[in-house]
Amino acid sequence: MRRLFPLIVAALMASSLDARPVIIAHRGASGLRPEHTAAAYRLAIEQSADFIEPDLAMTKDDVLVVRHENEISGTTDVADHPEFSDRKTTKTIDGRSISGWFTEDFTLAELKTLRARERLPALRPGNLRYADERIQTFDEVLAIAKGAPRPVGVYPETKHPSYFASIGKPLEKPLLAALAKAGFTRRDDPVFIQSFEVSNLKALRALTPIRLVQLIDPDEAPFDQQLAQTGLTPARMVTPEGLRTIATYADAIGPYKLMIEPRDAEGRALAPTSLIADAHAAGLQVHPWTFRSENAFLPAGDRRGQGDAERGDPAAEYRRFLGYGVDGLFSDYPGDAVTAREASGR
Ligand code: G3P
Ligand code: CA
Repeated sequence: MRRLFPLIVAALMASSLDARPVIIAHRGASGLRPEHTAAAYRLAIEQSADFIEPDLAMTKDDVLVVRHENEISGTTDVADHPEFSDRKTTKTIDGRSISGWFTEDFTLAELKTLRARERLPALRPGNLRYADERIQTFDEVLAIAKGAPRPVGVYPETKHPSYFASIGKPLEKPLLAALAKAGFTRRDDPVFIQSFEVSNLKALRALTPIRLVQLIDPDEAPFDQQLAQTGLTPARMVTPEGLRTIATYADAIGPYKLMIEPRDAEGRALAPTSLIADAHAAGLQVHPWTFRSENAFLPAGDRRGQGDAERGDPAAEYRRFLGYGVDGLFSDYPGDAVTAREASGR
């Protein structure tokens, strides 16, 4: 019994996390703190998020760090560090030419000398107050989740997996090793691993029973599929046949939310598509991204007051999506999402 007890607790944790639509704190509570910082993750936990979401990139000394992209000038003060001016370079990442500073050219110790900066200062000027946050490692974010006063899951995303593999720094095994070190190895552990690419999810399926999420960008085919010239498109991925194929290696899809609730030319919400029903029919959960409370991101009917930075009525959008039957959603404002879920009774 003593041996069984931790397994029973883990199973109960997983089932309590999944019994209702899960709220995934997108890069932490990134509407209210600079994304991917300890402050953003801690606030998300205070606001009762079920999962915290770290995006992952690799350093020069092979440490997984938490960044939305490997080019870091948009979310750190690296450009203000003269000692790193000679690291500025131009690379082709996922088919695009990008100039800046890249995680894989810095050791972790060097990255730790930087400070995180708000990505959207015009929309989120309040976040400029939090100017002393450092880049987090994946291990540090796992420790924040594990140290929470209640069960909190982690929802890591592999960023640019083909690119990192091409430079000899594949993300997948280090990701699984970090999860294992934190005690996460099982399907019913409170973890989902996500990727926009297909082949690394298939590779992960062979390596782990942890749940996997196929992200879908309606405007871009998975980059590994572009490289391999398979002809797979987002439109094909969301056909009933495409979804059944995804279900052979993944447990959920993470579609852009407008694939569920499209908008007209004036930005007004239209009737929902059949994507949730089709995915459920294929045995897949559905976790759309990304819900944000500012007018700039809301459908026209949910905006309030004047200006993009003002908060609108995000509860209306959450209410509709919860009514459509989502199994979870990504939000920059997990507090608003949790409040809306409680009000919905789901
Ligand atoms: O991972 C879900 C959502 O975060 C995908 O978009 O670009 O914000 O990582 P992105
Ligand atoms: Ca992400």
